[in-house]
Amino acid sequence: MPKNSKHVKVSAQETTADIFQLDGIELILGDVFTKLAQIPDDSVDLVIADPPYGASSATPAVLPENHGLKGFGGAWKAADHSWDFLDPADQLNSVASWLSELKRIVKPEGSIWIHGSYHNLGFANVVCQSIGLEIINEVIWFKRNAMPNLRGTRLTASHEGILWVHKGGPKKRKYNFNYEAIKSADYPEDSFKTAGKQMRTVWDIPNNKTRFELSFGSHPTQKPERLIQRIVDIAGVKGGTLLSPFAGSGTDLVVAMRNGMKGIGIELEEGYFDLASRRLIGEAERLKSQLPLGNSE
Ligand SMILES: C[S@@+](CC[C@H](N)C(=O)[O-])C[C@H]1O[C@@H](n2cnc3c(N)ncnc32)[C@H](O)[C@@H]1O
Repeated sequence: MPKNSKHVKVSAQETTADIFQLDGIELILGDVFTKLAQIPDDSVDLVIADPPYGASSATPAVLPENHGLKGFGGAWKAADHSWDFLDPADQLNSVASWLSELKRIVKPEGSIWIHGSYHNLGFANVVCQSIGLEIINEVIWFKRNAMPNLRGTRLTASHEGILWVHKGGPKKRKYNFNYEAIKSADYPEDSFKTAGKQMRTVWDIPNNKTRFELSFGSHPTQKPERLIQRIVDIAGVKGGTLLSPFAGSGTDLVVAMRNGMKGIGIELEEGYFDLASRRLIGEAERLKSQLPLGNSE
């Protein structure tokens, strides 16, 4: 571990929490419902929330061994993670609770991005509209290499949604939007975006990860760094702070570090907290040695 990193048990007052700190990034082991309360009002520039979607199933489908389907990252089980089981009766209250906290914490010129599927985004949409978070855009992340519907009972689910919201309301739309940089940017893997064209709300970003992204372990719902890079390109602020309240494997924080942002992450599960810490150490070392990122698998 580099000298300037710390993995400390915090003191008496907070006996259950661990904190990992490195190069302007702080990752907290704990529950958003208590940890967000410790973050000051109007203090972060960008929030990327990738909460549990509530898509877990008790009847996991398994791809046959040696299925040979490239880009699906090996044998696949339908989502079946304990942290993803949400009681529908509680979901509205739960989303309202953490989104209200995020609204308090984000700066007036900042913004919040919320990932999801039909399982959770409807709740988030209703909450945003009821607590005064104005929806700027709803983005569709098109996953051209989505895994097939193995039972043939549904259409192949090949997108996720992302809500981009801010707290200013229609009369105070001062959220950071790197409009010119985004318009001139080229994203070669995206068939909908070329340099000089405005970015659309449909993003064609394959779900593949680079070998480097997976080299410290993996998370079952790990986002590709390219997707998070896109969000930071649009609404990031150099030297500003990114908050990742459901940090998972730390993808948002790794991208924050890469882009010269400070970061705060919160993750409930110790295994993912450790994975994210390892990834951050790896990214700090890669940045220092200026090694390239490499291609996707
Ligand atoms: C959808 S995953 C995030 C994946 C992440 N974007 C990545 O790229 O690795 C959601 C994460 O939130 C964590 N989580 C669930 N409930 C939580 C809570 N109440 N407080 C903090 N983290 C929580 C889960 O353990 C899981 O790792």
